[in-house]
Amino acid sequence: MKKIVLGAIFFCLSQAVFATEVLPTQVPVPKDNPLTEEKIELGKQLYFDPRLSSSGTVSCNSCHNVMAGGEDNRNVSVGIEGKTGGRSAPTVWNSAFYSVQFWDGRAPTLEEQAKGPITNPVEMGMPSHKVAVERIKSLKGYEVQFKKVFGGSNPVNIDNIAKAIASYERTLVTPDAPFDL
Ligand code: HEC
Repeated sequence: MKKIVLGAIFFCLSQAVFATEVLPTQVPVPKDNPLTEEKIELGKQLYFDPRLSSSGTVSCNSCHNVMAGGEDNRNVSVGIEGKTGGRSAPTVWNSAFYSVQFWDGRAPTLEEQAKGPITNPVEMGMPSHKVAVERIKSLKGYEVQFKKVFGGSNPVNIDNIAKAIASYERTLVTPDAPFDL
């Protein structure tokens, strides 16, 4: 009995110690999406660009305002044409450290996650990733930038859009901030 009690106390203490640990100084970066200055810049542009939504009015930043704690301070988010979803937007700050994304962990990486909201009917409302890619292609300047960052004959595609956005998100970190102490 004593052992169990001691064990339980030790477990609680170890959890407490773990919870107050500061964040690592380096974010995990997948091998197939190395961070580069230009890719981060491109991702930042896409993150703030409402033209990535069907109506041209909703960007990632609409719901994950990086100047307001990385979220929208609402119980449920408001997306395209004022439509509301069933969940509140979690902050994007430090999401690069999570092993899974979304409240239910259904996206394994930031790259996979970023593809979701673009076609979500109550978020950015694009009918398909193909349409989203066409939209980006039609905007002056993006094609040149994608070519520079990713190379290849067809650089503007949904995987590269997601890779760029995820790279920008990996810069939204607060390692060793006083908040973590
Ligand atoms: C209309 C509002 C809205 C827009 C636009 C939106 N999101 Fe979200 N986002 C949410 C909501 C709500 C969730 C939680 C959904 C869930 O868990 O099922 C979420 C979850 C996330 C998460 C998971 C964070 C965590 O803690 O698990 C990330 C990362 C994220 N969004 C990034 C993005 C990016 C990148 C874009 C743009 C491509 C974007 N979001 C566009 C509302 C939005």
